[in-house]
Amino acid sequence: MSFYFDKDTKVESKEVITKAEIGNTLFTFITDNNVFSKRGLDFGTRTLLENIKDIDGDILDFGCGYGPIGIYLKKKFNVNVDMLDINERALHLARKNAMLNNVDVMIFESDIYEAVTKKYDYIITNPPIRVGKKILYDILINAKNYLKKNGHLIFVINKDQGAKSAMHDLQEYYNVNLVVKNKGFFVIDCQNCWLID
Ligand SMILES: C[S@@+](CC[C@H](N)C(=O)[O-])C[C@H]1O[C@@H](n2cnc3c(N)ncnc32)[C@H](O)[C@@H]1O
Repeated sequence: MSFYFDKDTKVESKEVITKAEIGNTLFTFITDNNVFSKRGLDFGTRTLLENIKDIDGDILDFGCGYGPIGIYLKKKFNVNVDMLDINERALHLARKNAMLNNVDVMIFESDIYEAVTKKYDYIITNPPIRVGKKILYDILINAKNYLKKNGHLIFVINKDQGAKSAMHDLQEYYNVNLVVKNKGFFVIDCQNCWLID
């Protein structure tokens, strides 16, 4: 059995070219077997991206997959973008897609935050749900250690995947606000306002 969050895969590679219009800009993304949403831009990811306004500074795309979040944000806001994933095939695609869409971003392998060495103004993610609640919460809660003071973790999660309980549970760590709800997908903004930088 092989999953999109495996580090490497024996599933045969079969790259596919997909297109996505996000905020009036057309992107081309190559996807492949064993990466998340291989048929093209995920609806949750689209909902997240279409609701991100006016960001600036240093951005981390956590769990970049084939790269739609970091590539879109770089193109739209010209911010400094780092992108990480555990899945080697996804990282290979993200590098290819960054070149294809003419953006200059930093892409690196990391298991959760193990290779992260700096703090960000925004950590933006469509997080892996199928890894289970413990790892999901490790990702969401520990993001605060990699955010600057007043930095934001912004993520998308479906109501069937525990959106309401995530909003509730994260209030212990962040100032939590709902950005938008769209067809069951919640975009949630968690501001790191408790810690001193
Ligand atoms: C829901 S997918 C989102 C992919 C992409 N950002 C998108 O929106 O299409 C979550 C991503 O998190 C990655 N991931 C899962 N576990 C991880 C871990 N422990 N460390 C880093 N990335 C991980 C998966 O490989 C996957 O690419």
